[in-house]
Amino acid sequence: MLRTMLWAAVILVVCVRGCFNAAPGPAAGVQVRADLDRAAREVDPRFLSVAVDASLVAEEKFMYMLGSPKLRTLARALTPSYLRFGGTQQDFMVFNMEKVFTQSHGYDDPQKPEDSCEKMELPPLLEERLKKQWTQQQVLLRKEDLQRKYRRVKFTEYSVDLLNSFANCTEMDLIFGLNALLRTSDNTWNSSNARSLIRYCESKQYRISWELGNEPNSYEKKAGIRVDGSQLGEDFVQLREILRKSKLYHDTGLYGPDISQPRDHRKDLLQGFLSTGSEAIDACTWHHYYVDGRTATLAEFISPEVLDSLGAKISEVLESIRLVSPGMKTWLGESSTAYGGGADGLSNAFVAGFMWLDKLGLSAKMGLDIVIRQVLIGSGTYHLVDDNLDPLPDYWLSVLHKRVVGPVVLTVDILPAPDHQNQTKKVRVYLHCANRNGGYSKGAVTLIAMNLGARPSRLSLPAELSLSTVEAFVLQSDQPGEEGLYSRSVMLNGKLLQMLDDRTLPELKGHIVPPADHLILPGFSLAFYVFTEAQAAACL
Ligand SMILES: *[C@@H]1O[C@H](CO)[C@@H](O)[C@H](O)[C@H]1NC(C)=O
Ligand SMILES: *[C@@H]1O[C@H](CO)[C@@H](O)[C@H](O)[C@H]1NC(C)=O
Ligand SMILES: *[C@@H]1O[C@H](CO)[C@@H](O)[C@H](O)[C@H]1NC(C)=O
Repeated sequence: MLRTMLWAAVILVVCVRGCFNAAPGPAAGVQVRADLDRAAREVDPRFLSVAVDASLVAEEKFMYMLGSPKLRTLARALTPSYLRFGGTQQDFMVFNMEKVFTQSHGYDDPQKPEDSCEKMELPPLLEERLKKQWTQQQVLLRKEDLQRKYRRVKFTEYSVDLLNSFANCTEMDLIFGLNALLRTSDNTWNSSNARSLIRYCESKQYRISWELGNEPNSYEKKAGIRVDGSQLGEDFVQLREILRKSKLYHDTGLYGPDISQPRDHRKDLLQGFLSTGSEAIDACTWHHYYVDGRTATLAEFISPEVLDSLGAKISEVLESIRLVSPGMKTWLGESSTAYGGGADGLSNAFVAGFMWLDKLGLSAKMGLDIVIRQVLIGSGTYHLVDDNLDPLPDYWLSVLHKRVVGPVVLTVDILPAPDHQNQTKKVRVYLHCANRNGGYSKGAVTLIAMNLGARPSRLSLPAELSLSTVEAFVLQSDQPGEEGLYSRSVMLNGKLLQMLDDRTLPELKGHIVPPADHLILPGFSLAFYVFTEAQAAACL
C-alpha cells in the first residue's frame, strides 16, 4: 500500500513538471485529427443545464434550502442554464393554495414578486438546521424510492415562490414539471390542478416553461396506471391549449414526454406520443443513466464500452424521432451516471466526471441540444453539491465546461500512434469553438480530453493546433492513482478547488502552455485545452 502511494507520488511529481508539455516520459500516444474549417453543428447556449429534484418538496420546508446564499452563488456560475424542477415525485404532487383568490383583487398577497433577492435569503442558523434535517430526510426518501411507494404530497404557493426566487435570482430559466397522473375516469389528464397552479404563477408574473409527467413508461409500476403514448400526446395538446390562452404563457416552452431511455415498448410510447403530441412541444425529452446505482462498480465508471453505450441510445432515439417528427429538437431531459439515486461513493466522487464529461461531449456531437444534469440538489448521490451544499468534483467540471466550451461543435477524432494501438480507447476527445462569453477571441477552439487510464498519454496535435498558445485546465483528483478516483475533491492544474467563502468562487485560471506539437494528458484526468490562437475558420 505504502509502496503504491510512493509510486503515485513520484508519478505526480513527474506530472506537475511535465504534464503540459514536452515530457519525454513513459506516455503512450494518440494523434489528434481535427477539422477547423466547418462547424459540425451547434447546441443551445444552455446546453449544460441542471435539475432540482422534486423530492425536495416532499416536505415543503426543505424548499427553503433554495434560499441558501452558497447554493445560489454556485448556481449563478452555471448560467445560462435551464433549471428543471421535476422527477418521480412530480407525478405525486398536488398544488394547494393557502391564500384566497378573489375576482376583484387577485391573490391577497402582501409579498410582491419584486422582493429583492437578499430578502429571500436563508439565514445561516436556519440553513444549518435544515441541512442536518435534510440528511435524515434523504434516508427516508431513498427508502420510499426502493419500495416504490410514493406518497401524494401537497405543495403550496410558498414552494412556487421559493423556486421562482431561486431561478430569478440566479438567472436560470425555470422549467416546472406538472403532474400527469391526475387523471379522469376515462384516463385523460385532469388539468384542473395544473390550471390553478398556472393561474397563480401568471398572477405573480413568474417566467416559467413547462413539462407534463415524468417517465410515463413506468406509471404502471409506480402507480398502477397505464397511459399510452398517443393519449399522453393528447394530454400535451390539452396543456398547450391552456398555455395558449394565457397572456403570459402563450408562447412559452413545453417539453416532453420525459421517457426513460429506449428499451422494449418505450420506443412505441415515444412514437405514439409524437404522432399526437409533436405539435404541442418545443423539444422532445428522454432520460439517460449508464448503470444501476445499486450494483455499479468503479470499473464501469471508466469503461470505454459503458461510455460508448450512450452513443447507441442516442442514435436509436434520434432515429425514432426522425421517423415521426423530423427536425424536432431533442434533449436529455434528465441524466446522470447511475439510476436508482446514483451509486454512493462513485456518483459523488471524482470518477463520476468521466461519465459526465463524455456525456456532454457525445451528446453535443451526436445531435442533442440540451443535457439536464440530475441533480443540482435533491435526494440521491448524483448531486453537484454535497449535504453541506459544498461543491463536488462534477460541479467544478460543469463550471469549467460552461466557461470555456462554446455552442459550436467541431469534428475531431484520434488515431493511435503507430506503436500504441491500445491507447485510443482510454483517451477520448471532443472539440468545440471556445466560449466567446468566456472572453476568448474569434477562432479559438476548446479541446475536451479525458484519460480513462492510469498512465499519462501523449496527444500529438495537428499542425493547425500546434501553432497556438494553449490555456490548459486539467482536473485531477487530489489523491494519486486509482484510490484518487473515489475522492470528493478535485484539483485544477495541481491546485485544490474550494469556494473562498459562501459567496465567492476561486478564480479558475488556465495554465499557459506555449505552442507545441503535442500535449501530455495525465492519467485519470479531465482536461479542457483552449487553443487561443487557433484561428479556426468555423469559429470566426
Ligand atoms: C426576475 O423578476 C423580475 C421581476 O418580475 C423580472 O423583471 C426579471 O425579468 C426576472 N429575471 C429573470 C432572469 O427571470
Ligand atoms: C378533476 O379534478 C378535480 C379536483 O382536482 C375534480 O374536482 C374534478 O371533478 C375532476 N374532473 C374530472 C373530469 O374528473
Ligand atoms: C494491448 O493490450 C494487450 C493486453 O493488455 C497486450 O497484450 C497487447 O500487447 C497490447 N497491444 C499493444 C499494441 O500495445
